Amino acid sequence: MAFETILTETRGHVALIRLNRPKALNALSDQLLTELGTALDHFEADDAIGCIVLTGSEKAFAAGADIKEMASLDFLTAYKNDFAHKIDRVAACRKPVIAAVAGYALGGGCELAMSCDFILAADTAKFGQPEITLGIMPGMGGTQRLTRLIGRSKAMEMCLTGRMMEAAEAERAGLVSRILPADDLIDEALKTAEKIADFSLPAVMMAKESINRAEEIALAEGLRFERRLFNAMFGTEDQKEGMAAFMEKRGAQFSGR
Ligand code: CAA
Repeated sequence: MAFETILTETRGHVALIRLNRPKALNALSDQLLTELGTALDHFEADDAIGCIVLTGSEKAFAAGADIKEMASLDFLTAYKNDFAHKIDRVAACRKPVIAAVAGYALGGGCELAMSCDFILAADTAKFGQPEITLGIMPGMGGTQRLTRLIGRSKAMEMCLTGRMMEAAEAERAGLVSRILPADDLIDEALKTAEKIADFSLPAVMMAKESINRAEEIALAEGLRFERRLFNAMFGTEDQKEGMAAFMEKRGAQFSGR
């Protein structure tokens, strides 16, 4: 695949997508979001891929939506084109997507990281929703996902002051799952992705779907939803293989069926 604003490669069963607009600190231009969506379409359809890692550069995961593109927007154009909706493609991906964040993850960059399934952060990572300093508010999920992840009080402070949060605070607050030395970030993210990709793909996809459901519905309905998927697992070859391998004291070889 030939792209101008992202780089893609595969390592075994893992796809690595790098945001690649170094001169703009990976600002999320319309073209970048379109290309990211196309890459996700491709990897989601590729049966050989079991997990996707999304990363940026050492300096910036992404410094937000592209301010130079947005500066002259008027309401009707913004409303009609609704470019921010393109980020929805990330959360809609049915295969797991890990954000590997080093440097700035600001505005749309923080929102993009939060659209992934979990965030591995380098010790250099800085998160923030600085839209308020530009005379606007977050528009790619910042007021919604950040609030669910770190709670109302901290989300309110982040969005109303625009201050940045270092990696350690982001981990304490529950925004990121783990902090890694910057030099190890990509290797560790790929290792984590390989581990996930080696499991049963339907089990991974259903676990992801069920956790996402937890954010949308009440507990009783969520438990019923989980139970339905859990019972369905007994129709897969991977369940037979996983449990046989345990009893035979050997490693499981999952086929994705
Ligand atoms: N959009 C467009 N260009 C950006 C950008 C952005 N979000 N962030 C950085 N750039 C560009 C800069 O304009 C600069 O380009 P030039 O060399 O052509 O001037 C280049 O990237 C390097 O940036 P800086 O010189 O500013 O680098 P720095 O190290 O001094 O500062 C920074 C780094 C603190 C991240 C600073 O660039 C910054 O504050 N960026 C903007 C962050 C921001 O406000 N993000 C929110 C955007 S709005 C949004 O995302 C809306 C939404 O929710 C959908």
